[in-house]
Amino acid sequence: MRFSTKHLLTSLSALLIAAPTHANPVTPPAPAQHGTLKFSTTGNVTRVTFDNPPINIIDPHLISDLLAYLVSIQPSPNTTTPKVVIFDSTNHDWFLGPLDTELTRAPITQDKITSTIEYSYLAPLLQNITTTAFIAEINGHNIGGGHELALQMDMRFAGPNAHTGFFENGLGLIVGGGGQFFLGQLINKGRALEYLLAAKAFDGPTGAALGLFNQYYSTGDALTTAVNTLAQRIGLFPQIALSDTKSALNNYLNPSPQLLAQDITNFVALNGNPESQADQAKFLALSQNQTNSPFELGLPEDITEIY
Ligand SMILES: *[C@@H]1O[C@H](CO)[C@@H](O)[C@H](O)[C@H]1NC(C)=O
Ligand SMILES: *[C@@H]1O[C@H](CO)[C@@H](O)[C@H](O)[C@H]1NC(C)=O
Ligand SMILES: *[C@@H]1O[C@H](CO)[C@@H](O)[C@H](O)[C@H]1NC(C)=O
Ligand SMILES: *[C@@H]1O[C@H](CO)[C@@H](O)[C@H](O)[C@H]1NC(C)=O
Repeated sequence: MRFSTKHLLTSLSALLIAAPTHANPVTPPAPAQHGTLKFSTTGNVTRVTFDNPPINIIDPHLISDLLAYLVSIQPSPNTTTPKVVIFDSTNHDWFLGPLDTELTRAPITQDKITSTIEYSYLAPLLQNITTTAFIAEINGHNIGGGHELALQMDMRFAGPNAHTGFFENGLGLIVGGGGQFFLGQLINKGRALEYLLAAKAFDGPTGAALGLFNQYYSTGDALTTAVNTLAQRIGLFPQIALSDTKSALNNYLNPSPQLLAQDITNFVALNGNPESQADQAKFLALSQNQTNSPFELGLPEDITEIY
């Protein structure tokens, strides 16, 4: 047979059509049942936008929506999952707020137990789903439980409105969903203890200097552009390599499932302490029931006002 360019192209296109396709579009997620998450997918990258007014609090609705979404992107033969998920927020003041104090303050009910168990699944899933890299694009307040979730993600980038930290120790509680371990791993034990025990805040430049944020950008647009560029670049490469790399680093650096389970057990055990209950009641009053109040915006530093 005489070789010709036309022949080569025809053979190649036959081969390409016959080849198993690995380029299925990412399976679109079902709409979030409680409407606290919005989704948009471009290529292999999905943006998940928190939308739980007024302050993106980690309440039972958000916990349930986030759990359902994470479960839906676990590797499965029938779905093509995103290589990168970027988390951001519709709210200019808030990336993610604290855990709903109603979950810790009032007596234990079946609903509270369900939400606590659901919350305890979020951290392991953010780790176990090794086929996806999770990126937090933080350009707002990100405090308490919401900051813990950001620390469980694989990377964090901060913009000018980033203001993050933990105030749990001021309520006689702990950062009990694994956040203490991840903070210690990111910024070292001495610094983690400084920020946890004294309820100190990280702004973007400080967090970036300490290694909490991968990078700080001085405008929201620069932040989004940089995160999109990075995500698209990661999205080009084979998912198996992404998964093996994330697994390797997880195995090397992550706390064990037993330590994570113990952390949340310790947290729940502290919830009912009378001293903590009194602190939580003052906290709810000062924060106007965890709304966008000056006190809430001043967290974590102004937790000292309950004393
Ligand atoms: C995948 O699809 C096949 C055929 O439709 C079905 O039998 C199987 O249960 C599905 N597997 C999962 C994990 O959804
Ligand atoms: C995550 O993986 C660990 C270790 O394989 C396992 O023990 C745990 O049950 C998994 N958790 C979830 C929520 O998938
Ligand atoms: C998405 O991933 C597939 C499979 O790895 C790859 O063939 C495709 O080029 C990627 N698309 C983009 C836009 O990165
Ligand atoms: C906070 O909630 C409590 C109990 O639901 C209510 O009594 C109180 O008035 C609320 N406070 C504010 C500032 O909304």
